[in-house]
Amino acid sequence: MSKTLLITGGAGFIGSHVIRLFVNKYPDYKIVNLDKLTYAGNLENLKDLENKENYIFEKGDIVDEDCVNELFAKYDFDGVIHLAAESHVDRSIKNPMEFIMTNVVGTVNLLNAAKNLWKENIDGNLFYHVSTDEVYGSLGDTGLFSENTSYDPQSPYASSKASSDHFVRAYGNTYGMPYVISNCSNNYGPNQFPEKLLPLFINNIRNRKSLPVYGDGKFTRDWLYVVDHAIAIDKIYHEGRNGETYNIGGFNEWRNIDLIKILCKQMDIALGNETGTSERLITYVKDRPGHDKRYAIDANKLKNELGWEPSLQFNEGLVKTITWYLANEKWLENIVSGDYQKYYEQQYS
Ligand code: NAD
Ligand code: TYD
Repeated sequence: MSKTLLITGGAGFIGSHVIRLFVNKYPDYKIVNLDKLTYAGNLENLKDLENKENYIFEKGDIVDEDCVNELFAKYDFDGVIHLAAESHVDRSIKNPMEFIMTNVVGTVNLLNAAKNLWKENIDGNLFYHVSTDEVYGSLGDTGLFSENTSYDPQSPYASSKASSDHFVRAYGNTYGMPYVISNCSNNYGPNQFPEKLLPLFINNIRNRKSLPVYGDGKFTRDWLYVVDHAIAIDKIYHEGRNGETYNIGGFNEWRNIDLIKILCKQMDIALGNETGTSERLITYVKDRPGHDKRYAIDANKLKNELGWEPSLQFNEGLVKTITWYLANEKWLENIVSGDYQKYYEQQYS
C-alpha cells in the first residue's frame, strides 16, 4: 500500500461518497474509516465496499482521545480527511454541547494525534479539514463568499465548525501542521439523512405528509451534488496547496420555495401523480431561530487553480437524487424506523 489514509465520518452522507471514490480510485491506498455511528452514521451506505481489501472500518469516537491516539499508533497514517461532525443546524439549536464536543474537541484530538505522529518528519503528510460555507454567516441579496470573507458564524453548528477551522489554521501556523481546508455549500444526493431539506421532503411526499417550509421560504442556498463534492475533495487532497482554503460550490443558487416547487413537480412525474399533488402538501411553519438568509459561494479559486467544476446540471442531479430515493425505499424506511442502527451488530458482532 502506497499510503494509509484516515477518513473520519465515512459512514455519513458525504463521507460515504468520499470513501467510495477513494477506495475504488486508489486500490494502492489503505483507507481507514473512523466513525462513531451516531444517528447519522449508516454502514448500509458502504455495503458495496465491505469486501474490498484496501478498506477498513473502525468504530470509534473522535472525542475519545485514547481511541484516536491508539488508531494513529496502529495505522501510522500518512493523511487525514476529516469529515466526522454533528451536521444539522436544527439539532445544534437544541443541543449545542454535542456540537462543541464532536466538532471542536474531536477535531483538536485528531490534530494532536497527527502532530505527535508526524513530529519527526512532516513530508508527504496532510490534514484535510472538511468544512462548510456556514462559517461565513449570512449574505444579503447580493455578493458571494470568497476564501477571504471574514468568519461570522450565526448558528451553534456554524460556530463549532468555524472554531474547528481556526484550530486547524492555528496548528498550521504554530506547529507547522500541513493542512488544507475546504468550505462547501449545501450538498444533496443519495444517502443523506432524511432530516435535511431535500431527503426530508422526498420522504414526506412519498408518505403524503406535509412539507414544513420555514418562515417565508425565501431563504437562499447554493446546492451541489454530493459526488461533485467528493471529486473536489479528491482534487484538493492531491493537488491543493499546503495552508490554503478552497471554497466549493455549485454555482447554483435557489430560494427554498422555488427549489421545493421544482422538487414537487419532479416528484409528481416520478410517482405518476397529477401535477400539483405534491405542491398541495406545502405548509408554512414557524421560522428557524437565527435562520441565515442567504449562502452563495464563489468557487472560482478551485476552478481556476485546480480545474474543478460541478459535473451535473441541477435538474439532472435532482432527478438522479429522486430516482435513488424511490429505488431505495427500504434504506429510507430502515432509517425512519431506526432499524439501520441494528446493521452494525448483525454485520460486525
Ligand atoms: P452527516 O451528519 O451525514 O455524517 C456525519 C458522520 O460523522 C456520521 O457518519 C456520524 O456517525 C459521524 N460522527 C459524528 N460524530 C462523531 C464522533 N464523535 N466520532 C466519530 N464519528 C462521528 O454529515 P455530512 O452531511 O456527511 O457532513 C460531513 C462533513 O461535511 C461535516 O464535517 C459537515 O460539517 C461538512 N459539510 C456538510 C455539508 C452538507 O450539505 N451536508 C456541506 C458542507 C460541509
Ligand atoms: P438544511 O437542509 O437544514 O440545511 P442548512 O440549514 O444547513 O442550509 O436546510 C436547507 C434550507 O431549508 C434552510 O434554509 C432551512 C430550510 N428548511 C425548511 O424550510 N424546512 C425544513 O424542514 C428544513 C429541514 C429546512
